[in-house]
Amino acid sequence: MNVIKSVILGIIMSVFTINTLQAEPIVIAHRGASGYLPEHTLESVTLAYAQGAHYIEQDLVATKDAKLIVLHDIHLETVTDVQKKFPNRKRQDGRFYALDFTLAELKTLIVHERRDEKGDLVFKDRYQGVANFQIATFEEQIELIQQLNRQFDKNTGIYTEIKSPAWHQEQGVDISRLTMSILRKYQLDDSSKAVYVQCFDFDETKRLRKELGAKVKLIQLIAENDWQESATNYNYLKTTKGLKEVAEVAQGIGPWIPQILNLETKAPTNLVALAHSEGLAVHPYTFRRDALPVNITAEEMLNVLFNDVKIDGIFTDFTDITVDYLYQ
Ligand code: G3P
Ligand code: CA
Repeated sequence: MNVIKSVILGIIMSVFTINTLQAEPIVIAHRGASGYLPEHTLESVTLAYAQGAHYIEQDLVATKDAKLIVLHDIHLETVTDVQKKFPNRKRQDGRFYALDFTLAELKTLIVHERRDEKGDLVFKDRYQGVANFQIATFEEQIELIQQLNRQFDKNTGIYTEIKSPAWHQEQGVDISRLTMSILRKYQLDDSSKAVYVQCFDFDETKRLRKELGAKVKLIQLIAENDWQESATNYNYLKTTKGLKEVAEVAQGIGPWIPQILNLETKAPTNLVALAHSEGLAVHPYTFRRDALPVNITAEEMLNVLFNDVKIDGIFTDFTDITVDYLYQ
């Protein structure tokens, strides 16, 4: 009997060991293959898919007719020709808000590589063409990824961010409720599926889990307080007490790289260890080959993040480089 017990125990232990070793880091295509094509377009999603991303990110913003589009900002002018097409539709602050346009109007816009307020390219060596890229809806991106998964027999996931939920509420739109209803329409509100929902606003992360009944895996994004991303106190969230609170509703955190790695000394901060001790995965943002800190190469950066800091995945503008580093 003791022999049988020890054989069973041995099998359980070996399975456990294999599973632990197989816990591989994930590569999250940040705004699609944004290092190569205008961010969040269907073309950018398709390239990220082909490059082998495990997950593809969608930042979500609402339209005037309550559709969800995939757009990083609540404003349009940094990535589209809205100023040229609709010169009279800016608000008093001079900004063009996606929420002031119907989806049909937004579909007439051309999406271009990101530009700053002076009109200069933010990343000078990225896509420089003028093809007719369009804003994509959340549903279009889900459908595209699901269809590619079906045809290639893969399971590339979606990694969605709810943008500015408090601002949307002030404008009369419950963007989290809209997001959950689309996820449920596609049977994606399911913790066993390759789906994450992320948010910077901790009150909203709690609301998603507790009030809206989200079953999907949730990630609490961590900003710096002075960015004014939301009313969340990120200094508190980074403490043991704060992380314990996060772990009550979420499966991981999404910190900014300098919060987990001292870029001067290249030594890890204590945040990843603290998060891991609360059972939270850590998926930092954002690896950019063309915007590295001084004195570090792309390979060194990935090396230190995966081997020293021990992250569980990463948001990357360069899925190809990140997949090659991890899996070639
Ligand atoms: O969502 C992770 C990362 O994308 C957060 O930064 O500003 O690019 O959405 P942002
Ligand atoms: Ca994002």
